[in-house]
Amino acid sequence: MKILILMTSFNGLSQAVFESLIQKECHSIKLAFAGNDETLREDVCAFDPDLILCPFLKQRIPNDIWQKYLCIILHPGIKGDRGPSAIDWALMQSQPLWGMTALQADQEMDAGAIWASFEFETRLTTKASLYRDEVTQAAIQCVDQVIDQCFQQSYEPQPLDYSSPSIIGRLQPLMKQHDRAIDWQRDNALTIVRKINAADSFPGVRDNLFGIEVSLFNASVMETVTTREPKQLVAQSNGAIALSTIDGAIWIGHLKQVGDPYFKLPAAWVLKGHLSGALNFDLAANSAFDLMGFEELQYRREGDIGYLQFNFHNGAMGTQQCRRLLAAYQQVSLTDVKLIVLTGGREFWSNGIHLNHIEAAADPAAESWKNINAINDIVEAILTNQKQLTIAALGSNAGAGGVMMALACDHVVARKSVMMNPHYQSMGLYGSEYWTYSLPKRVGQSLAKALTTECLPIGAVRAQAINLIDAYLDSSYEKFEGRVAAHLAEWLDSLCFDTRLQNKKLDRAKDEAAKPLQQYRNEELKEMKQCFASAEYHEARQSFVFKRSCGRLPAHLRKVFGVELSQVKKLA
Ligand code: COA
Repeated sequence: MKILILMTSFNGLSQAVFESLIQKECHSIKLAFAGNDETLREDVCAFDPDLILCPFLKQRIPNDIWQKYLCIILHPGIKGDRGPSAIDWALMQSQPLWGMTALQADQEMDAGAIWASFEFETRLTTKASLYRDEVTQAAIQCVDQVIDQCFQQSYEPQPLDYSSPSIIGRLQPLMKQHDRAIDWQRDNALTIVRKINAADSFPGVRDNLFGIEVSLFNASVMETVTTREPKQLVAQSNGAIALSTIDGAIWIGHLKQVGDPYFKLPAAWVLKGHLSGALNFDLAANSAFDLMGFEELQYRREGDIGYLQFNFHNGAMGTQQCRRLLAAYQQVSLTDVKLIVLTGGREFWSNGIHLNHIEAAADPAAESWKNINAINDIVEAILTNQKQLTIAALGSNAGAGGVMMALACDHVVARKSVMMNPHYQSMGLYGSEYWTYSLPKRVGQSLAKALTTECLPIGAVRAQAINLIDAYLDSSYEKFEGRVAAHLAEWLDSLCFDTRLQNKKLDRAKDEAAKPLQQYRNEELKEMKQCFASAEYHEARQSFVFKRSCGRLPAHLRKVFGVELSQVKKLA
């Protein structure tokens, strides 16, 4: 089947749909960006697809295209739900069940006939989290069903009929800032967190903090009791601030100052220059709040296994965050645990160096250098650990240096739905994190080149097939850690810990004799130094941080065409 994926950007959901189609190996796939109708017409005409799938589309499809071709829109809502703020409303209304629906494009937005719909239970979480996990999984189920139905001659989709009892959803308006506004005198901590969760990633909840217009992101309830007036600063920890509410307090991890040229940063950084002397930012240093701080690192031990979680917002790891993670890893490696499992974060395992922190630095090139060295130090500690085995357990997606950091581990296991982007070139970077050692060691030189130059995502199933990772487990995020523990028990049953550790030491010594780790690092950093001095990197980073799109399909995605996709696909 010829399938055109039409999208506003190649975001995580589009990547997951792409991956599910690639895995089927029987479809010819092409990617296209919406926005320029003329280019789109040319692409559609040249490819003449059997199906146009739209996993993430903000624009209207031109009439002549949807009238001629079967166009299926993936809408993140239950049957009958319509409008651009689907998940926002679901979270604001605390809907226990939500869904994903595949609709045929029609004259009216989201009002076409229904081809498939899947529901899931919601969680107390952010919009982006639900989107990346449950919504994405339901989208893939919808796509499978749509394709099956395309082959059924007699199949008729279900027209949208609001009198049908199976249609519960309704047309909902665009959620405006006044719908999201926090009433600090009435809203309790949980209500405020729900409001911020529903606006996660974009647009955030507008408010005025200490005289500055900001958008609020990344909130959680703080386990504390305070008798202060609401909206007072009560603590700070690791860049987050805590504000009092009528019933306690909330953490706010990130803020974006409203207007240009601002972007999302740790809340304490945004407020720092704007606070009067009355508001003391050293509160955390001498208060017990640190104990219930905005903790990004968590450690838990079970028998011989130590689980180290690093829940960095958006998986981005700034210099200080890398240093804290290194210190935690070193501390754990001093204990007598045998296995150290790195579990990453709920939203992302890791996405490498922190491009926003770098953008905010007075000297971005110098900060890039510090950041890459700080993450390299973690990777070095993992690679040279002679006492324990380190396991990367990817319950969520990873990108760039985050993937390479995982590859440094002795065993890599991922959730089946995990997507990885093991490349840096689209950010204008050569990359480091010892990837020139770890990646070819796992997949060979030829695939390492394909993965790092084609700049395409790869899912856990194909990743395991090419030995990029060792295993994948079909599991929900909540059950993943338990599945990992069972998997590791089997892994050690097949070859015991002592033998594995001994093999690792021998292997490392052999590799070190052939080419010292330091040499890999030096060579990578030499390339990175040039990247950090190049305009290409600074422009790519700024486009990413300021979310500017060129509106055209990037060159590397234009190459995606049909079954001749890549070596990676063929070998998988
Ligand atoms: N630094 C700072 N922020 C990052 C980041 C990084 N390295 N990687 C991701 N983010 C942020 C995005 O800006 C976005 O922020 P938002 O909450 O304001 O929307 C959020 O994480 C989610 O990223 P998004 O790109 O929307 O997710 P996705 O699932 O569509 O794509 C990636 C995931 C990893 C492919 C993509 O985020 C990416 O290319 N990241 C950059 C990786 C990189 O080049 N790292 C530096 C080299 S090591």
